[in-house]
Amino acid sequence: DQYKKEIDQWVIGSAEDLENYRIRFLGTKGIVKALFGEMKNIPAGEKRSFGQVLNDFKQLAEAKYEDNKGLTDGKDKDTPGMDLTLPGDAFTLGTRHPLSLVRNRIVSIYQRLGFAVAEGPEIEDDWHNFTALNMPENHPARDMQDTFYIQRNPDWVLRTHTSSVQARVLETSPLPVRIICPGRVYRNETVSARANCFFHQVEGLYVDKHVSFADLKQTLYFFVKEMFGEHTRVRFRPSYFPFTEPSAEMDISCTVCGGTGCSLCKHTGWVEILGCGMVHPQLLENLGIDSTQYTGFAFGMGVERIAQLNYRVNDLRLYAQNDLRFLQQFTSST
Ligand code: PHE
Repeated sequence: DQYKKEIDQWVIGSAEDLENYRIRFLGTKGIVKALFGEMKNIPAGEKRSFGQVLNDFKQLAEAKYEDNKGLTDGKDKDTPGMDLTLPGDAFTLGTRHPLSLVRNRIVSIYQRLGFAVAEGPEIEDDWHNFTALNMPENHPARDMQDTFYIQRNPDWVLRTHTSSVQARVLETSPLPVRIICPGRVYRNETVSARANCFFHQVEGLYVDKHVSFADLKQTLYFFVKEMFGEHTRVRFRPSYFPFTEPSAEMDISCTVCGGTGCSLCKHTGWVEILGCGMVHPQLLENLGIDSTQYTGFAFGMGVERIAQLNYRVNDLRLYAQNDLRFLQQFTSST
C-alpha cells in the first residue's frame, strides 16, 4: 500500500523522469523485483494471496510506465504535458514556378496524344546539338544560334535547342518514336526584357511509316485549342531549319489583345510560338534510319513565350530573378 501511494505521487514530466521511475519500480534492482524476492520468506499458506497482491502491484507500476511512454516515443494517446487543443503551427506551402506550370500543361496535352517524355543532357556534344542535325562545322545555320562553348573541351556546348534530344532518341530507340522533350536551352544573347541567355523549349518528334505534314498540323491544332482555347486561330509561315524540310513557323492569334494589337504581338495580332517541319531525310540517314521507309515530323516551342501569352508577363527576366512578389502570384497546384 505504501508503494502504491508512491506510484500515485510520481509526476512524470520528461523522459528523464520516466527513466527514473522505471529504475525505481521496474528495474532489476527496483521495488517490484525486490518484493517478488520476498516471496521465499512468506509462509506457505499465505503465498497465494501475497502473490495476488504483488501481481496487482506489478501491473499498476507497469501501466503507469506505459501510459507515460508517449512522452518519449510520441505514440501515446494521452500525451501528458501537451495541450492538444492548441491550434497547430501554420506553415506556408510554396507556389509552383510559372514556367513549371506551363510546361506541365504542355506535357499533359501531348501525353494525351500518346507522346512519351524524353530527356537529354544540357551539356551536349557537337554531334547531337549540330552535326547529326545537318549542321556540319561550317554550316551558316550555326550562326543562327550564339553558342556557349565549354572551355575545357571544344566538343562540348550548352545545348542551344532541345532538338539535340531528337538525335539522341533516334540513335537509341526502336521505331516508331513519339516523344516530347521539355528542357532548358542556352544562347549567348544580350540579356534584356525580350531575351535571356537561357530559356525553355518543348521539343516534339514523331517518326513512323507514313507520317505526313497533315499529321503535324493536326497535332499542333489540337495543342493550340487545348492550350489557348477553342477560338484561337493558327497560321503557318514557311521557314528554314537545317534539320527539317519543308520547315515552317507557327503563329497563333494573340491571346492578350485578341488580335486587335498589343505590344506582345507588336500590333500584328499574331504571336510566333514554335518552329516545326518534316524531319529531314538526311537526319534520319545520319542516325541509321532508312529514309525511304520512314518519315517524321518535329517541332520546338518556347515555354517562356507561351507563359507570356497565358500570364501577360512583360519582362522575361522576371522568370529567373526569384522575386517572391512575382512568384507568389501563381497559385495553381498542377
Ligand atoms: N530547334 C528549333 C529552334 O531552336 C525549333 C525547331 C524544332 C524547328 C524542331 C523545327 C523542328 O528554334
